[in-house]
Amino acid sequence: MTNTIYVLNGPNLNLLGLREPDIYGSDTLDDIAAMLEDCARGLGYEIDMRQTNHEGMLVDWLHEAQAEGAKAVLLNAGAYTHTSIALLDAIRAIRTPVIEVHLSDPSTREEFRHLSYVGMTAAKTVQGLGARSYIVALEAVAEL
Ligand code: DQA
Repeated sequence: MTNTIYVLNGPNLNLLGLREPDIYGSDTLDDIAAMLEDCARGLGYEIDMRQTNHEGMLVDWLHEAQAEGAKAVLLNAGAYTHTSIALLDAIRAIRTPVIEVHLSDPSTREEFRHLSYVGMTAAKTVQGLGARSYIVALEAVAEL
């Protein structure tokens, strides 16, 4: 196993900073990557941060995380969280632990966000802390 942690981000998260800042905050994904890198250095991890708008790409990256011996995956699947049985299956198909991450708290938002296929099978969920959700999730890797 390596010390690499995959941080996988799904649809529309490339627009963080511009996108509904009242909900998601003003940090961009690059800002979050920089914060994670800082924190990871202290914890002895390497961060591999990625974003895609495509569901199948997230599936491929989850498979890759296992094939490459990643220590863990932090997954913010965006809206696919609430729709994707393919992601649920992919998380179940790999042994690499997956932590579900959200900037907002979907459980307090529209009802269609209350169901999380990712959360049904993730090792842990961290949500509602803005960009800090990613940091808290990174710190939680040690407890998995
Ligand atoms: C999100 C929450 C999802 O409901 C939404 O579709 C997103 C972002 C979050 O980080 O708060 O795209 O995953």
